[in-house]
Parts: sequence; C-alpha cells; structure tokens
Amino acid sequence: MSKKVTTKAFLKKKETGEKITAVTAYDFSFARLADEAGIDMILVGDSLGMVMQGHASTIPVTMEEMIYHTKIVARANPFCMIVADLPFLSYQTDVYTAVENAGLLLKEGFAEAVKLEGGVDVADKIDAITKAGIPVQGHIGLTPQSVHQMGGFRIQRDEQRILKDARAVQEAGALSLVLEGIPADIAEKVTKELSIPTIGIGAGVHCDGQILVMHDLLGLNRGHVPKFVKKYSNLGDLAVKAFAEYAKEVKDGAFPGEEHSY
Ligand code: KIV
Repeated sequence: MSKKVTTKAFLKKKETGEKITAVTAYDFSFARLADEAGIDMILVGDSLGMVMQGHASTIPVTMEEMIYHTKIVARANPFCMIVADLPFLSYQTDVYTAVENAGLLLKEGFAEAVKLEGGVDVADKIDAITKAGIPVQGHIGLTPQSVHQMGGFRIQRDEQRILKDARAVQEAGALSLVLEGIPADIAEKVTKELSIPTIGIGAGVHCDGQILVMHDLLGLNRGHVPKFVKKYSNLGDLAVKAFAEYAKEVKDGAFPGEEHSY
C-alpha cells in the first residue's frame, strides 16, 4: 500500500540518499498514470504553455490556467506530491500578490506546494509564502520565465551567482530546489552544500532527484529534443500510427465491426 509523499518525505530522501523522482503532468489521466508508476512528485508546470497550448514560451500562461490544470491533476487524488507553478507575473511584483496567488493554487487548485523561479531576487516572496504555511519549491539556473533576459533557453554557467541564488532560496525557507540547465559540477556543489533536496533537469546526475517534462520523456513532442532529455517511449509515433489505422479502417468500412455494434 503506497503512502502519501509529503514535504517530510522529501527531506528524508535527501538524508538517506534515495533519489526523488518527478515528472510534469497537466491532467487527470496522465496524473493517474504517473502516480501508478510510483513517481514521487507531479509538477503542474507552466511548461503547459508550450506543450499543451503551443506557445513559444511559458510567459503567456495565466493563473486561471494554472488553477484549472492543477485542479484536474489533483482530481486523480495521487499518492505523489502535487506542486504547481506560479506563472509569470503572478509573484514577481510584490509579496502580497505572491502570497495570494500561491494560496489560490492550494485553495482552488488543490496543490500541496508551489514553485517559483528565481533566487536572491525573489527570496522575500519565498519567505512570505512559506510564512503563510505554503511549502515552496525554488527554481534557479535556466529559468524559462526569463527567456528574453537570458537571450534564449541557454545553459547558465555563472557558478557564483548560482550558489548565491541557491543559498538565498534555502535561507528563505524553501522545501526543495529545481536546478535547470546548469553544468553537472556546479549542480553537485549546490547539492552538497544545501540541506534541502535539489531536483535537476539538464543539471547532471548529482542532484537529489530528477524531473522531466512528461511530453519529452514519453516522446509526445515532435521536432527538436534537447540534449538532457531521454525518451523512454515513443507515444507520439504510436498515436499517429493508431489514428492512421483508425482512419483507414473507417474509410474501408472495416470499423466498426460486428463486435463493436449493437
Ligand atoms: O514548467 C516546468 O515544466 C518546469 C520544469 C521544467 C522544471 O518548470
């Protein structure tokens, strides 16, 4: 019988060295499948702006959309922890807005923790949200909401800045920290220094856990796949094959057969 994964379980895993497993999910069906597979954490990521909505970045995603997707993930009632992203401009402007929007992801979306991007610059928001009783996951390195400031989705290599940001996130009270798009040796240093778990994406093997975007790992995306992605399946090709076979059988009159008819 599985047990609910809590913030305490995350810290325990860091202590014992058991890796944390995390994937994104954006709806009821895939949340159920990830949970059935024994994944520790589902992130309702604002990456939904790209993989579900077809935008070129995560910037257009709204609070309403995040609440909607978090709610339909939570309806799967998973054992794994549900973390929801605070979308662009839902927390950067001031502490009050940050706490209010984080609260909405819990009150209306039924998330169990929220994630936000940035280090030193958002430490006051992490502190305030945490003090409101809401667990916060940090996210530093390649932060997709700052894509225009970074000049594209680029690997971040400024070790001193990354270390400062990581310390600021931990000191502000975060429960864990996503490290995205940074060299493996820097991620290793951060992971060794922090007492909270690090969860890497494109940050090498030394992090306390790993996260991948569901569409990448299942092979649902068409086109360019970044170097850090490992495709564990080819569901995209399987779906095209199934749709094509169905269309052919409908045209040929082979479907529906007698066994599908009343
Ligand atoms: O939005 C997202 O999916 C994320 C992960 C890439 C960590 O932030």
